[in-house]
Amino acid sequence: MTDQWIKVAIIGTGGIARSHVAATQHEQDRVHLAAAVDIDADRVKAFADAHAIPHTYTDVAEMLATETPRLVMIATPPGTHCDLIVQSLEAGAWVLCEKPLCASLAEMDRIEDAERRTGNYCSSVFQWRFGSGGQHLKQLIESGALGRPLVGTCNTTWYRTHEYYAVPWRGKWATELGGCTMGHGIHAMDFFLWLYGQWEEVRAMMGTLDRNIEVEDVSMCMVRFANGAMGNITNSVLSPREESYLRMDFAGATVELTHLYSYRNESWRFSGLPGTDVSADVAQWQALPAEIPSSHAAQLTHYVDAMQRGERPPVSGPDVRPMIEFLASLYKSAITGQPVRRGEIVAGDPFYRAMNGA
Ligand SMILES: NC(=O)c1ccc[n+]([C@@H]2O[C@H](COP(=O)([O-])OP(=O)(O)OC[C@H]3O[C@@H](n4cnc5c(N)ncnc54)[C@H](O)[C@@H]3O)[C@@H](O)[C@H]2O)c1
Repeated sequence: MTDQWIKVAIIGTGGIARSHVAATQHEQDRVHLAAAVDIDADRVKAFADAHAIPHTYTDVAEMLATETPRLVMIATPPGTHCDLIVQSLEAGAWVLCEKPLCASLAEMDRIEDAERRTGNYCSSVFQWRFGSGGQHLKQLIESGALGRPLVGTCNTTWYRTHEYYAVPWRGKWATELGGCTMGHGIHAMDFFLWLYGQWEEVRAMMGTLDRNIEVEDVSMCMVRFANGAMGNITNSVLSPREESYLRMDFAGATVELTHLYSYRNESWRFSGLPGTDVSADVAQWQALPAEIPSSHAAQLTHYVDAMQRGERPPVSGPDVRPMIEFLASLYKSAITGQPVRRGEIVAGDPFYRAMNGA
């Protein structure tokens, strides 16, 4: 190990923490996972033993003071994220935090303020942006090869049982911060918005149709983009045959992505205009680069690249704020029954402080 290695600590050693460990193993030439923290002493010990992590803590402040990590990965329940992010930034670390990054635009402002004060950066995990297919499509869109985006469909139709919501932090506004919009559809929506460009207006409905929870188990919305494109979005945890499906119609092509939690190159389908011989174009679009699944490891590679260049990492600050604003606007529209335009929710608006406006 040399001084060049980036010292990493992880906070939260539950279900998703394994994906963060796998990411650090994938980047083992550049990062070293030195410490793990969890308020559950038995869990953090077992986790560290299983993954050969040298140091364990049950107190975040003690870990930050003792280890002084350069990067903190946060994998705790959503309601804890903002405080842990600010605490880590103030201790001198950069942060990669699980989705949803924070509870509101007010918390996003708090994070951006802490970034400015400390000179450190905080990114949200949105691993779908970093698979080979997503990177390829982003480049095709930016090169103009597919024509401009016109119409889109973005469906997260997943299934979560009543037992899934028995975990104490799930299903409640205070701790999960929202329902299937915040917790499940967030991946596909972020990906869709990242590809289509700046959103302008959203009109939404939501409901709690079947699960015994405070938050929504289904939401739907229509979105209009600054470039004129229009999309429809469905988020559900009530759908027995599970699927994540995006259909993106550009002026010159249709692009479809069908998978569940992590796409691969085989998950993509490109189609050209009807009635013309576009087979050569389609073959070129469909020729994806070497397989990189949409994983935490794929995102960490880009994150560490940015760290080594001393640059703001992807999915931080202005690269993630539009998504937090979109979530707040979707909820505001669903709860008030009114369309919501980008820029409308400012300090003083009840939906600036909480996704449910409470
Ligand atoms: N990116 C993805 O694909 C993906 C998938 C699943 C979950 N997640 C997100 O990951 C986060 C964690 O989800 P999970 O399913 O792993 O939850 P989990 O309940 O399995 O694990 C959370 C862990 O955090 C610990 N914890 C709670 N508060 C803490 C604190 N203040 N300090 C230290 N440790 C604390 C708990 O004891 C627990 O061990 C959530 O935000 C969730 O939305 C992301």
